[in-house]
Amino acid sequence: MHILAIESSCDETSAAIVKKTSHGIDVLSTVTATSLSLHAATGGIIPESAARMQVKYIMPVIIEALNEGIGNRKQGKEITSWKTAREVLKNDIDAIAVTYGPGLIGSLLVGVETAKTLSYIFKKPLIPVNHLLAHIYANYINRKESEIKFPYIGLIVSGGHTDLLLFKNHGDYKWLGGTRDDAAGEAFDKIGRLLNLTYPAGPEIEQRASLVNNPDLKFKSPLMGSHDFDFSFSGLKTEVSRFVQKQEVVDTNLKNKICHATQKAIIDVLVGKTLEASTKYNATMILVGGGVSANGKLRDQLSSASSIPVLFPDAKYTTDNAAMIGAYGLLNQQTTSWELLSANPELYFA
Ligand code: KG4
Ligand code: ZN
Repeated sequence: MHILAIESSCDETSAAIVKKTSHGIDVLSTVTATSLSLHAATGGIIPESAARMQVKYIMPVIIEALNEGIGNRKQGKEITSWKTAREVLKNDIDAIAVTYGPGLIGSLLVGVETAKTLSYIFKKPLIPVNHLLAHIYANYINRKESEIKFPYIGLIVSGGHTDLLLFKNHGDYKWLGGTRDDAAGEAFDKIGRLLNLTYPAGPEIEQRASLVNNPDLKFKSPLMGSHDFDFSFSGLKTEVSRFVQKQEVVDTNLKNKICHATQKAIIDVLVGKTLEASTKYNATMILVGGGVSANGKLRDQLSSASSIPVLFPDAKYTTDNAAMIGAYGLLNQQTTSWELLSANPELYFA
């Protein structure tokens, strides 16, 4: 079974062709266009600009994914034409999986309406996908399905969300808690803006933090020890902002120390609460996903503190991509008809 997967919830326009094999979810192609550089200039995403770029990229990205994943292999040469892509869609694709929420409404609509149109024209079943659950399913890519055992704890750490879930089976999960205000990635980005770092700031904060040898600065890990599975990161931003305002100069050395203390405050609480959840619910494993799961310190700290296996996606599948949407679609084949599907920017967990 081949799935065409489409992701357009924010500033990435992505299409992928995926199939299930005995060694896991195989990605035949992932093609992603991003309008990130446009937003880097303003230090945050402008929804209107992101949606316009989605409109521009959506068809070229889908055509390239169809040709790269199947068309070129069949024909033995590089093709970029819509004619070949159309033949592939008609003859080789069994279903279309698409992100229908959460996300920016203008961006989501582009992917959802395109998927609905293709579903109608080519008579293919549609699989609506919750973007957040798909971040966890990025862990199934290139990994034998039998290696992942339920029940597991899922930690979603992205630019817009921070959530802990208990997965008992495919399609059977329970939300345990999430952020009350800013997401972990958002905290990295907002603190990065205070320090004039490149947007999105996670990678630069991680890199600067790694240069600190004597970490004598500390910020509080919010809600640490609160005995629930909630998070809150807006207070950390305020604490860092107050600290920065009190300094006469913030030289490179101090900037790096602030990055180190910020990263530590965020990671300590993520690790602490994830481990608490895994103990409370007798989990067999922990699966992490979302942009912040690319962070090496989070990977090391959680893996070494946990007594059960911790899985992370390949770095290229941590940020938004259509392959993870396809992975979720292949493992949860709940189809709908195009007439019934609408984008839902507020979609959360049922
Ligand atoms: O999952 P994602 O691509 O977007 C959403 O769906 O929200 O996540 C983007 C977030 C940004 O906030 C970015 O700063 C963060 O992931 N990020 C990182 C790292 N790489 C990306 N945060 C910490 N360390 C990193 N290495
Ligand atoms: Zn995401």
